[in-house]
Amino acid sequence: MASSAPAGTPSAPGGTPSGAADVLVVGGGIIGLVTAWRAAQRGLATAVVDPEPGGGAAQVAAGMLAAVTELHYGEETLLALNLASARRYPEFAAELAEATGLDLGYRRCGTLAVALDADDRAHLRELHAFQERSGLTSEWLSGRECRRLEPMLAPGVRGGLRVDDDHQVDPRRLAAALVTACERAGVAFHRTWAARLTVAADRATGVVTADGTELPAGQVVLAGGSLSGRLDGVPEGLVPPVRPVKGEVLRLTMREGAPLLGRTVRAVVRGNPLYLVPRESGELVVGATSEEQGWDTTVTAGGVYALLRDAHELVPGITELALAETRAGLRPGSPDNAPLLGPTGLDGLLLATGHYRNGVLLTPVTGDVLAHALTTGELPSEARPFTPRRFGAALALSSPEPTA
Ligand code: GLY
Repeated sequence: MASSAPAGTPSAPGGTPSGAADVLVVGGGIIGLVTAWRAAQRGLATAVVDPEPGGGAAQVAAGMLAAVTELHYGEETLLALNLASARRYPEFAAELAEATGLDLGYRRCGTLAVALDADDRAHLRELHAFQERSGLTSEWLSGRECRRLEPMLAPGVRGGLRVDDDHQVDPRRLAAALVTACERAGVAFHRTWAARLTVAADRATGVVTADGTELPAGQVVLAGGSLSGRLDGVPEGLVPPVRPVKGEVLRLTMREGAPLLGRTVRAVVRGNPLYLVPRESGELVVGATSEEQGWDTTVTAGGVYALLRDAHELVPGITELALAETRAGLRPGSPDNAPLLGPTGLDGLLLATGHYRNGVLLTPVTGDVLAHALTTGELPSEARPFTPRRFGAALALSSPEPTA
């Protein structure tokens, strides 16, 4: 692993003022951390500003690496980036585990998407045809074949799609490993909120933190997840058009030595997407609601009820498991459901945000793309469709005030 000079050393390359970081990443979620890690590996003096690095949506996310089963009409361009990142996962996970000595809970276990009634089956058949047209591999199974693969599925399962290429990682372990990898690569952490971007001579020059400290930097990467549109000082028209999309998620505990499921199982129950992600640790993650509720992260009785009701319909045995945790997080939604990556209309300001449902999946490719952009000023060809410039000036959204 390459190491870099700690942020703030006077020898920072690339025209950065003495004492400044080459790169300051605003936001220490998995996207900000992977950006910082990759930047530091390229020899850039890098710092992260976040009150709780490794926190954020990764603490809630299930960690499905679901490029194939989460294929959606109109998102074919995003599919290419999702697949590029999925292909990198084995090497990325091995490198990160080697760099930190930490287990990421990366499992190449595959996914089974099942149908509970005739409508679901018709929908899954359509998805199967779309996957085949898109060159993706999935296999249609009868209800009986689905239950042979996953015996705890409800007897009513009418058929399903076996997708061996959709895997999983544990996002909490991923976040912890990225914090360690950053520390070992010399990334400096400022454990506070960034309050305002500073701009001088038409160039981003750093941030001022909530306690008034100035953090100068050669380049600033805004990677604040759903909060990315809320940093003061970003010129009007360049404010990232991200919005919070709430997801409520449950964590259950499977009995030791008796995993309820061998792979991720997903379904659409009464129109609600549902997934069950079994980990080797015995954790079973059940998610997720999808709600446009502004900054609200309340876990509601209705959300928990709906998830348990639908999960019980799919896998009746879940009611015997311990309910270990209920939690809600905020996905950073963007207008086209795709991320905003790379340089903006303001020199020195880059974005790595708007990953919406795919932040965990897109972590490896985001790190590579941002490292390239930070060192060359250009996006690599695979990321060009995701330039923030695609939204022009008109899409600066306003969101309600956070309540916490
Ligand atoms: N990718 C799963 C979710 O956003 O709920």
